[in-house]
Amino acid sequence: MIRFDNVGMRYGDGPEVLHDVTFELESGGFAFLTGPSGAGKSTLLKLVYLAERPTRGLVHLLGHDIATTPRRRLPELRRRIGVVFQDFRLVDHLSAFDNVALPLRVAGAPETRIREEVTELLHWVGLGDHMDARPPALSGGQQQRIAIARAVIARPKLIVADEPTGNVDDKMAFRLMRLFEELNRHGTTVLVATHNDALVARFGHRRLRLEAGELMPERSARQSA
Ligand SMILES: Nc1ncnc2c1ncn2[C@@H]1O[C@H](COP(=O)(O)OP(=O)(O)O)[C@@H](O)[C@H]1O
Ligand SMILES: [Mg+2]
Repeated sequence: MIRFDNVGMRYGDGPEVLHDVTFELESGGFAFLTGPSGAGKSTLLKLVYLAERPTRGLVHLLGHDIATTPRRRLPELRRRIGVVFQDFRLVDHLSAFDNVALPLRVAGAPETRIREEVTELLHWVGLGDHMDARPPALSGGQQQRIAIARAVIARPKLIVADEPTGNVDDKMAFRLMRLFEELNRHGTTVLVATHNDALVARFGHRRLRLEAGELMPERSARQSA
């Protein structure tokens, strides 16, 4: 699903912020990406959701070598990835409902199905009473839940989430992680960046740890238990 071979990344002519990152996340896998602020988590995710290209090394995604994939093919790949951005990136003039409906509308789903699925998911994330509200009228935590609902509504092959529980309480964070797990059980590959170690500890998934742009050697599940 995702393979990085000796990936290095710098912004412009600044210092390198990822060094020789090599890892593989198999189809149907679930991994947390952890590490302190500034370690490069968001940068690594941007390479995965094709917002950036590596300065060196190889990024393989959904069976494609990104460096040799024609630029015009990238949007099609990109649509198979559900992204939860750290800053949400909701459409402010659309209701919560219409924000979440967007990926289904892009995919040409019938309105009856859209109404049913969006309504159910918004209830599930606790926003059943706010479906008509626009994002600026909602709290950070509520906006975050809309962003998560939008990322998962069209059942993407791959979900990439950048600090998706940074604005909600522990109980909601746990609930949202269970949503990712539920999708993962149905075959979706999940990569979640977080510096919430308590949350990571509660779920027994693989951990990829970045420190100062370097991926730390992985411990086996037994060692980290
Ligand atoms: N758009 C950018 N331009 C220049 N430097 C950036 C940019 N985004 C991030 N960086 C730098 O890259 C490094 C890694 O940042 P980031 O990937 O955001 O880390 P994390 O998500 O782990 O906090 C930091 O030193 C940060 O300042
Ligand atoms: Mg970040």
